[in-house]
Amino acid sequence: MISIELKVNGEIHAVSVKPNETLLDVLRDKIGLTGTKKGCDTGQCGACTVLLDGKPVTSCLMLAIDVKKSEILTIEGLADNGSLHSLQEAFVNEGAVQCGYCTPGMILSAKALLDQNPHPSEGEIKEAISGNLCRCTGYVKIIQAVSSAAAKGSAK
Ligand code: FES
Ligand code: FES
Repeated sequence: MISIELKVNGEIHAVSVKPNETLLDVLRDKIGLTGTKKGCDTGQCGACTVLLDGKPVTSCLMLAIDVKKSEILTIEGLADNGSLHSLQEAFVNEGAVQCGYCTPGMILSAKALLDQNPHPSEGEIKEAISGNLCRCTGYVKIIQAVSSAAAKGSAK
């Protein structure tokens, strides 16, 4: 075991990890942030997406020991004092959530897009969430939700 500190959602967490332990498993099992979902565990579904220094990554493919100098943002870090982030609100309002398993990763991919490009085209939204699979919604409402959050102009 190796002792490291991870900065997640602005807070430092001291954890002991195995050299081969993924960021996904450490977030869920050692820090208790289960909003980040484990789907395939092989980098194919995007359910485990978190932001690493603002960029979306599949946390099942990252080793926890490799990200100890990074700022990690998970879905739990988006709401502000109990108020939903504009993307979370838009997903609710547009009916873009069914089972919800893909939603945390989808929202974080969308956040990374809107932080860089506050007024994306539909094609840019599709590209940004192309690594996030949804088995329920058919994507239309998800794209509408990201457009709606962008139109409100409050990506942060
Ligand atoms: S759980 Fe990481 S990409 Fe599917
Ligand atoms: S809402 Fe069920 S997988 Fe997307």
